[in-house]
Amino acid sequence: MGILLGVGRALADVAIIKVQADAPGRSIGPDLVGVFFEDINYAADGGLYAELIQNRSFEYQATEQKTWNPLSYWDVQTPGGGRASLDGEAAAPLNANNPHYAVLEVSEPGQGVGLANPGFDGIRVEAGGRYRVSLFARQLYVGNRWGGSAHAGHPAPLTARLESKSGQVLGEVALGAPGWEWTRLTNTITATQSEAAARFVLVVTNRGGMALDEVSLFPENTFRGRPNGLRPDLAQAIADLHPKFIRFPGGCVAHGNGLGNLYRWKDTIGPVEERHQQANLWGYHQSVGLGYFEYFQFCEDIRAKPLPVVAAGVCCQNSGHTGGTGQEGLPLAAMPAYVQDILDLIEWANGPATSAWGAKRAAAGHPEPFHLQYLGVGNEDAQTEVFRTRFKMIYEAVKAQHPEITVIGTVGPFPDGPDYDAGWQFANELHVPMVDEHYYEKPEWFWDHLNRYDGYDRSWSQVYLGEYAAHDAGRANTLRSALAEAAHLTALERNGDVVRLASYAPLLAKQGRTQWRPDLIYFDNQQVLRTVNYFVQQLFSLNQGDVCLPTTCSGVPAGARLAISSVSERRSGDLIMKLVNGQATLQPVRVSLAGVNNVGSEAIQTVLTGDPAAVNDFNQPLRVEPVTSRLKVGPVFDCELPAHSLTVLRVKTR
Ligand code: AHR
Repeated sequence: MGILLGVGRALADVAIIKVQADAPGRSIGPDLVGVFFEDINYAADGGLYAELIQNRSFEYQATEQKTWNPLSYWDVQTPGGGRASLDGEAAAPLNANNPHYAVLEVSEPGQGVGLANPGFDGIRVEAGGRYRVSLFARQLYVGNRWGGSAHAGHPAPLTARLESKSGQVLGEVALGAPGWEWTRLTNTITATQSEAAARFVLVVTNRGGMALDEVSLFPENTFRGRPNGLRPDLAQAIADLHPKFIRFPGGCVAHGNGLGNLYRWKDTIGPVEERHQQANLWGYHQSVGLGYFEYFQFCEDIRAKPLPVVAAGVCCQNSGHTGGTGQEGLPLAAMPAYVQDILDLIEWANGPATSAWGAKRAAAGHPEPFHLQYLGVGNEDAQTEVFRTRFKMIYEAVKAQHPEITVIGTVGPFPDGPDYDAGWQFANELHVPMVDEHYYEKPEWFWDHLNRYDGYDRSWSQVYLGEYAAHDAGRANTLRSALAEAAHLTALERNGDVVRLASYAPLLAKQGRTQWRPDLIYFDNQQVLRTVNYFVQQLFSLNQGDVCLPTTCSGVPAGARLAISSVSERRSGDLIMKLVNGQATLQPVRVSLAGVNNVGSEAIQTVLTGDPAAVNDFNQPLRVEPVTSRLKVGPVFDCELPAHSLTVLRVKTR
């Protein structure tokens, strides 16, 4: 049978690919492709978490950003000759976890004194959209503070409104009047017009003073309609990846900037106004409104397994910008309680609703267990004795009490070096089931390390490649970087018995608030941008398969930038090939499928290709996107891999 080649193309150019479909092959973990969520680049507040008010709890601090204080992002408006002052106080808070609040004193209401908040770079409002206002208020006095009339008059009702930049009212509701103790006031604004960057204004029309806290504006339209839920378009972009798991809360956020900044899951559940907020080591604030419950709920909603990562009783070694020497461990006397917190997390996730922590999950509206299977302990930690002692305490307790949980250890920040070596040795000594490898390297590195796992000792711990990304010039999300990741993913599939899980990192980045590039998804308040790298992750996730079939490639020079994997998918009976051509020339291939009886006559072919330097951006969001067509196939068939491309072929074999 002749090979379909372009005129004048030499036969020697053809890559001969042989797939042995009836050979046993290597299993691919059912959860290979997942996502890594970290609150970096405003991924949570101002991002995935749908809250629209910035600094709703008046807890911003100068320790987070030099110019911040509890009143940041709040402004007093005094139209019509109004006079008012705004102060931050802490004397009689809503609760101990929410220590600061605002005091608004109106000496002359004019046309109504407004307390305004711009949200996170403006509040996106949609005509007809419903926005739930909720706040806590406490009247301090009515009338003139110094006029002896405190508690004498009646508190007046407040009004909440949405306004355009020019002051046009886009929707407004009455909230009722505060009491003399903290009172929750709520109502819902229906927006009459759309606006890209509106502001929220709380309007006071009488003289007096009042304390305000936890001022929230929440769209009713959240992902799957969940209360205190997620921004739907962003959540959908993540759901469309069909991730098999979601890692949370990081990354460095998991082990924090100093021991006081460890991410503690118990601080992130329960009523939002009672959660213990804290600084984010990426230079901003964590409201923890998107906490453990919301995270587990999201996992369930998109059928991804939760993969929480808890600190190993030590903080990040870069704490305080110490360049790797800032690791500290919790005092050993505090470790039993810390270990218990981790055991409680497992009970909260999986225990019956009658158990102490399962009851808290049930009280939050989820009596059924969440089926936690994976638990990461530590993140990129320096492999010191301080770390080892605390990791061992946690690991042994979880193993003893919850042998069903797969504990994932950590082997430092890099793909090799002293922490990597020491981490592996320690993991093997303890027989930790899996370890978390990280690498951010150049695209060439990914191509040069396609054999990385071929020689891994199969009796050792398995691998979760928890953070990786190809960093191209200028850290741009180029097609070249995405193809390097695709090539590497073929190698992960080929070593699916060793590498059980993998997640690109980081996942989300807000335009203008991005500390780290590249990321998988960029967004602003209006749009969500899927990078080329996103499409690679999506294609591998949707076409993962269960068994990697032995596949050989010949006829091309050694070192040619070609990477191929062939997998079978039990569910459909399909044979799926991923073929990555990292070369600047088209690559003809001839594929022979050995050991398949019923090869369909057509394959679904999806190709991602373009200029290697091409990126998707907000001006041209789909400059590079997958294009699907049909390809005639049989037991032997030919196809062409465009220069700089990923091709996914889905062949029916039933
Ligand atoms: O993904 C961004 C950061 O990179 C993570 O927080 C950290 O674990 C890694 O160094």
